[in-house]
Amino acid sequence: MRKAVPLSTAYRLIGPGPVVLISSVLNDRAGLTPIAWHMPVSDDPPLIALEIWKDHFIHKAILQTGDFVINIPSSDMAGTVRSLGSVSGSKIDKFEKYGLMKENSKKVKSPRLKSAIGILECKLHKDENLLKKYSVILGDVVYAEAEKKIFTDRWLTESSGPRIMQHLGGRIFSVPDKKTI
Ligand SMILES: Cc1cc2nc3c(=O)[nH]c(=O)nc-3n(C[C@H](O)[C@H](O)[C@H](O)COP(=O)(O)O)c2cc1C
Repeated sequence: MRKAVPLSTAYRLIGPGPVVLISSVLNDRAGLTPIAWHMPVSDDPPLIALEIWKDHFIHKAILQTGDFVINIPSSDMAGTVRSLGSVSGSKIDKFEKYGLMKENSKKVKSPRLKSAIGILECKLHKDENLLKKYSVILGDVVYAEAEKKIFTDRWLTESSGPRIMQHLGGRIFSVPDKKTI
């Protein structure tokens, strides 16, 4: 079960660089797109950046809707994440095609992925220069949640439960599962 995460620590959900699934809506169709290139930009106010190619369905959806959700999938979704990254939402409804459940967000119009272990609801923070020059989308984080068994004020890599995954390139993902000091 997920619980709300204070906005002051929400950046730690994406700090380790997990693969995320971005959801938003274009012309009544919800999209769900894997993204590996993202980062926290500021914790106060909470601001994040995504690099999303301008021709992606989700890029257009975010500009139309004015908001989006960063959904953090658990590592057991690796196969589905690959599939979600191999087809465009302009061709299919990805939630329907891959049997994924949506749920309403708390603070934005874009839907959330029900099975996500972490959630950051974001409002588009328009920066025309970053958008046009680098296809970088900024988002003000307005609400966050995480699976309480595995996130307190950080991911608990030392306790059992679902895991985030990182993208090493190509078809390869890895899972952080050990705490050092
Ligand atoms: C693991 C993974 C990471 C990806 N990271 C990015 C990324 O950071 N930026 C990007 O523009 N596309 C990225 N992609 C590619 C898009 O997810 C892919 O082209 C997708 O089909 C676009 O879907 P859409 O048109 O429905 O938005 C990634 C794909 C995978 C599988």
